[in-house]
Amino acid sequence: MRDTGGTIHCFLVVFKIRIKMKELSKEEISPLSSLEVWDDDVLKRYPEPGPAKAKDEFRVYNDAEDNPVREFYRLNHKYQTYENVLAKKADFLKFDKMEMPWWSAMEYLNTLVDDSDPDTSLDQLQHLLQTAEAIRADGHPDWFVLTGFIHDLGKVLCLFGEPQWNVVGDSFPVGCKFSDKIVYPEFFADNPDNDDERYNTKYGVYSHQCGLDNVHMSWGHDEYLYHITKEYLPEEALYMIRYHSFYSQHRENAYDHLLNNHDREMFKWVDKFNPYDLYSKSPKPPVVSELKPYYEGLLAKYFPPYVKL
Ligand SMILES: [Fe+2]
Ligand SMILES: [Fe+2]
Repeated sequence: MRDTGGTIHCFLVVFKIRIKMKELSKEEISPLSSLEVWDDDVLKRYPEPGPAKAKDEFRVYNDAEDNPVREFYRLNHKYQTYENVLAKKADFLKFDKMEMPWWSAMEYLNTLVDDSDPDTSLDQLQHLLQTAEAIRADGHPDWFVLTGFIHDLGKVLCLFGEPQWNVVGDSFPVGCKFSDKIVYPEFFADNPDNDDERYNTKYGVYSHQCGLDNVHMSWGHDEYLYHITKEYLPEEALYMIRYHSFYSQHRENAYDHLLNNHDREMFKWVDKFNPYDLYSKSPKPPVVSELKPYYEGLLAKYFPPYVKL
């Protein structure tokens, strides 16, 4: 952070957000012991490239009554409305919460401590470095490596008091019918948009192949980081960032009727990125101090010195 004024301002903003959220219980804000529980669950659903396994196989694991992932999706599907998305965009796309050097922002993300087991879980920075290093090892361009390194930075939303279901989870379009290819589609029955005739038809507020740029996605770390980086990275990178959690499209093709030809071309890059995100976990944690100079150089090459959150 540049100055104490900024710190105080940030504190006030976070405080205000917490007040707004006060009608939610702790269980509704953080049903998961850690955000990584969601990432691990995605990996169980997609243990290899391609569409999800048969539903029944997946459900054996997922239907336990006390399953926190199930509870997480219940809340996510209930509260991710068209109105929620517009309200979050109006608030967070002002980027008036914090301003700091890029590397500091990555370290700030890493302050996201949770209740998960420190012996078995990777911290955020380790996941990002492993993703990026796997991309680098395959000889991809440096902007692709950089994309791997920052792709989850938007999870700082949690540090601003946002509930987990407004930060992670599979993303999907709002403003039109929810696809039954989205995990736990039955929970959309509690979403008010499901009974709103403006939003509950196949196209809703959109039109045939209108292009994803005209579509509001559920709010979360993907959309937020897209807006932070959109001036600075190649379009291929921006698609990876913006749609990396849009599993119902990039794995299941559930929204082909909204994508235009350009989206289809660009989704080849989303497909290219996804295995690095899911399958790059290595038992050997990266040594941050050794990698820091290279990644600081990449950040400096593509971004201005300070990032506004
Ligand atoms: Fe992510
Ligand atoms: Fe990730």
